[in-house]
Amino acid sequence: MTTALITGSTAGIGAAFARRLAADGHDLVLVARDTKRLTDQATELHDRHGIEAEVLTADLSTEAGIEAVAARLGDRRSPVDLLINNAGFGNKGRFLEVPMADELTMLKVHVEAVLRLTSAATAAMRERGRGGVVNVASVAAFVPRGTYGASKAWVVQFTQGAARDLAGSGVRLMALCPGFVRTEFHQRAGMGTDNIPNWMWLDADKLVAAALADLARGKTLSIPDPRYKALMGLVKVTPRGLLGGVTSKTGRKYGPQ
Ligand SMILES: NC(=O)c1ccc[n+]([C@@H]2O[C@H](COP(=O)([O-])OP(=O)(O)OC[C@H]3O[C@@H](n4cnc5c(N)ncnc54)[C@H](OP(=O)(O)O)[C@@H]3O)[C@@H](O)[C@H]2O)c1
Repeated sequence: MTTALITGSTAGIGAAFARRLAADGHDLVLVARDTKRLTDQATELHDRHGIEAEVLTADLSTEAGIEAVAARLGDRRSPVDLLINNAGFGNKGRFLEVPMADELTMLKVHVEAVLRLTSAATAAMRERGRGGVVNVASVAAFVPRGTYGASKAWVVQFTQGAARDLAGSGVRLMALCPGFVRTEFHQRAGMGTDNIPNWMWLDADKLVAAALADLARGKTLSIPDPRYKALMGLVKVTPRGLLGGVTSKTGRKYGPQ
């Protein structure tokens, strides 16, 4: 029996990881801020799949929250075999419209927490000679898109660099880059989604299945859908000025669009 720790497990992509990993027989450590929601999720996954699901309430924008999750990942008596660094959020508005405190909170959750949790997990995994980490980035990593895109670009670069440094240790790391997925993300950020065409939306369960298949294949970067693979191919050959004009608007306006 292996154990997976998922941050941001209670909604969207994290909940899809929790469903899939529980169905595959993994025990889980579920991390988010809302204890009631975590406990309900743990009970449901235990009852449905017979796995053990532990609840760890933590706010990854705080020192105490990061410390608590890092300590759990470093607990040698109760090893974590797979870490899914998934917790994240969007801020409404463009640069200078977003309060500085919110920009810094984003960097704490998307960058500092990912760095410290990956480090805590992989140090313990390397001793055992096995383990895996999936860091959830975004296709926004590849286009000019404010602090959000910049933080996700860091996730991609960091993860692929760490994967290279740990090659041969038995520890795998992969950055996962989803396109638009219907979750609570856009509503929580107050972002309208009316201008996002239907074909751009991905299903969270299919995304997770493709991501886990890519991890098993040893990929360090996963862009799980042919539509987005093609789009990211186009992005590589499009002048950045032109790209910025398109990507700075999509899904970033206040309220319905
Ligand atoms: N949806 C998309 O279109 C999309 C596309 C590309 C990438 N992504 C990335 O995918 C990841 C998951 O997003 P999602 O769309 O599934 O979002 P979501 O539906 O809003 O779920 C976010 C999850 O993260 C938790 N969370 C948020 N802030 C947290 C904090 N400070 N500490 C601990 N947990 C926190 C939330 O629970 P609590 O509120 O209870 O803490 C919730 O479980 C994010 O990293 C996001 O950037 C999303």
